[in-house]
Amino acid sequence: MQKYLYVQGHQQLPPKVVADLRTDHAGEVGAVCIYKGVLMFARDSALRDFAQHHLATEQKHLTRVKEWLPPEHFSRLLPVWKLAGFLTGALPALFGPRAVYATIESVETFVDLHYEEQVQDLKSHPELFLLLQTLQECQADEVAHRDEAATARGPLKKGFCLRIWCAMVSWGSRNAVVVCRHV
Ligand SMILES: [Fe+2]
Ligand SMILES: [Fe+2]
Repeated sequence: MQKYLYVQGHQQLPPKVVADLRTDHAGEVGAVCIYKGVLMFARDSALRDFAQHHLATEQKHLTRVKEWLPPEHFSRLLPVWKLAGFLTGALPALFGPRAVYATIESVETFVDLHYEEQVQDLKSHPELFLLLQTLQECQADEVAHRDEAATARGPLKKGFCLRIWCAMVSWGSRNAVVVCRHV
């Protein structure tokens, strides 16, 4: 029998769900910072529109996740996730739109899988149907972000440096989630 940690509205959340939500919260904080990083350096107007539009969606996700996770369960490493997010947006923005689109495509490919795991887990918690719905809505937005970024990047293959960068971004996202479950 799983020990339930605390009550959210009428809902009680198992520790595994709280740990998952901590990673979601940190991820959405990081996502907001990615687009702030992009907007600090991007000059291309199509890229700026893309970043502003995505930033608004990520801020909405952050608000929705916060409705489920009280501050005492936030990651203690939020300043690290903010800096990592900012650099993940700012660095490619210095190299141009294609680098940013490729970065977003990599990040969102990971985020889709991350939300999918939780969505599958939550199917065994019918009492958490509203949380399932929230995460599915966020996931649908992330998939749209991924596809928009892929379309904007275009059919040209990624160069060597961009491939290395995107692999680092995926690796970083995966490991941030592992750490965030605990801290
Ligand atoms: Fe998001
Ligand atoms: Fe997103």
